[in-house]
Amino acid sequence: MRLDKFICKSTELTRTEAKKLLKMGTVLVNDVVIKDPSTQVHENNSITIDGEELTARSSRYIILHKPVDTICSNVDETYPSLLHLIDVDRAFDMHIAGRLDADTTGLVLITDDGRWSHNIISPKKQCEKVYRVWLRNPLKDDTAERFTAGVQLQGEDGLTRPAKLEKIDEQEVLLTITEGKYHQVKRMFASVGNKVMGLHREQIGPIKLADLPLGEWRYLSQNEVDAFL
Ligand code: URA
Repeated sequence: MRLDKFICKSTELTRTEAKKLLKMGTVLVNDVVIKDPSTQVHENNSITIDGEELTARSSRYIILHKPVDTICSNVDETYPSLLHLIDVDRAFDMHIAGRLDADTTGLVLITDDGRWSHNIISPKKQCEKVYRVWLRNPLKDDTAERFTAGVQLQGEDGLTRPAKLEKIDEQEVLLTITEGKYHQVKRMFASVGNKVMGLHREQIGPIKLADLPLGEWRYLSQNEVDAFL
């Protein structure tokens, strides 16, 4: 991780304060003064400030059941950030691994471990996300086939990756996708002449929302964390 991030993870300093300290030449990595905040360091390195050895706090991994009218951003905009729902120290140092729209509910994973969230977000990793979708119009017979083949979304290069559609009833389906393009589910249904009226994420990889109440959160188990390592 970056040296300035490591300093934040092991002290109470902000990123700006960490950068100031670095500029002053008080930070040593393996006994060498380092001033560049973007220097990559590893937890096994000896990192000191004014001779005092730093130890990074361990990473946190959280699952939350997102309500509507909250946003997956670290700053409040039209709606408040859902990080307000997590009553842990330095909640705003964490980030959301795979955003949901303000009007979407369901499973959100939150962490301060960028390498872990990369395994969920990166299109290359093809991590499965399962959405329950409520539609305005009855499902057309060819929609599942078209989603398996991939559909063209406006402004995107190439087709969407093969997606799996399971019909629950005429206007309710489960959709599994392995990418996370902007408004992807809504745009996929728009491309086949339908409209998403309600959207809820039930699963990411092997992790299920299950019976976690709306607006509540819990730490992931070690097995759940390991699923994305
Ligand atoms: N696709 C969407 O259109 N919206 C979401 O919130 C998630 C996936």
